[in-house]
Amino acid sequence: MRMFGKAGKAAAVAAIAALALTACGRTDSGSSGGSSSGSEAFPKGSSIGVALPQKTSENWVLAEKLFNDGLTSAGFKPDVQFANGGVSEQQNQISAMITKGDKLIIVGAIDGAQLGTQLKQAKDAGATVIAYDRLLLNTSNVDYYVAYDNFKVGVLQGQALLDGLKAKKPSGPYNIELFAGSPDDANAKVFFDGAMSILQPKIDDGTLKVVSGQKSFEQAVTQGWKAENAQKRMDTLLAGTYTSASLDGVLSPNDTLARAILTSVKAAGKPLPVVTGQDSEVESVKSILAGEQYSTINKDTRKLVEHSITMVNDIQSGKTPEINDTKSYNNGVKTVPAYLLPPVIVTLANVKTAYVDDPVLGPITK
Ligand code: BGC
Repeated sequence: MRMFGKAGKAAAVAAIAALALTACGRTDSGSSGGSSSGSEAFPKGSSIGVALPQKTSENWVLAEKLFNDGLTSAGFKPDVQFANGGVSEQQNQISAMITKGDKLIIVGAIDGAQLGTQLKQAKDAGATVIAYDRLLLNTSNVDYYVAYDNFKVGVLQGQALLDGLKAKKPSGPYNIELFAGSPDDANAKVFFDGAMSILQPKIDDGTLKVVSGQKSFEQAVTQGWKAENAQKRMDTLLAGTYTSASLDGVLSPNDTLARAILTSVKAAGKPLPVVTGQDSEVESVKSILAGEQYSTINKDTRKLVEHSITMVNDIQSGKTPEINDTKSYNNGVKTVPAYLLPPVIVTLANVKTAYVDDPVLGPITK
């Protein structure tokens, strides 16, 4: 249904544009994408809106440059904007993109549930909306989702925590604490649920002990993905719960927070626990090499942006973009057709091979 709706709209827009004939304009690169309607959804060379959130981790900063370069070389005009000022700034930016006439908008949301009005505006203007990295919630006005498999990220983090604990001390019980990301980011709960799918059974059988008792997502969240919030919470946990007990491991949802947690433990003069992460940030990869942070996740931003631009090309040329998941990402109103990439766990065991073709991390890990 969704696909036919899209194709119908594409045909209508193309009829108005009525100029370019692209029936044979693009060769299928072997993807399992759907058929081509044979007419452009909007002209090549159009402006493409890319609304990014705050710069809460290196992947977002990298995405800005990759979108600018990639869209330009694909023949589009990139309109990439960060919303460092918060949700209302992002709302205004998206509105402005639509008013300006952008027919395709890629959104990395600060708060995926706060853009309903702007996404409706996009739909009314005939624009296609792609949710990038973070899902857009409670709206029918999102067409596609492109991301690394967020649940799998959590599963890998949970498994890494267990593996790291066992490597340090062959049997439990192990004392751990749980950290989650920002509750306004739709990914945060998915990461946490993925991790808990591995950790909860081990909590239930007594292998793992969350000594603070703070086991729920709500208790574990870190507002705004801010390092200082994670560091403060860790300081409080150490001072209140770990005066005599030893802390063996910490589930951290990303690298920025992992380093904040390690900073807190160091400041308290305690032995370093096993700490997980995500994003392959430069300082965390160095920390893994130094034997401090236990793990990170490689979610190569280049591949994510590249696939987003493949989608842009497909949509522009009237072709149904390739998707590989039609069941995992229900946003409260609809299940959003998704293209999910596989995340890769990185520890000291594979850090030297994981980034061989990464221009920044390759040289560091050689
Ligand atoms: C991304 C993570 C990132 C976090 C904070 C999430 O939505 O998926 O890779 O660590 O945002 O920026």
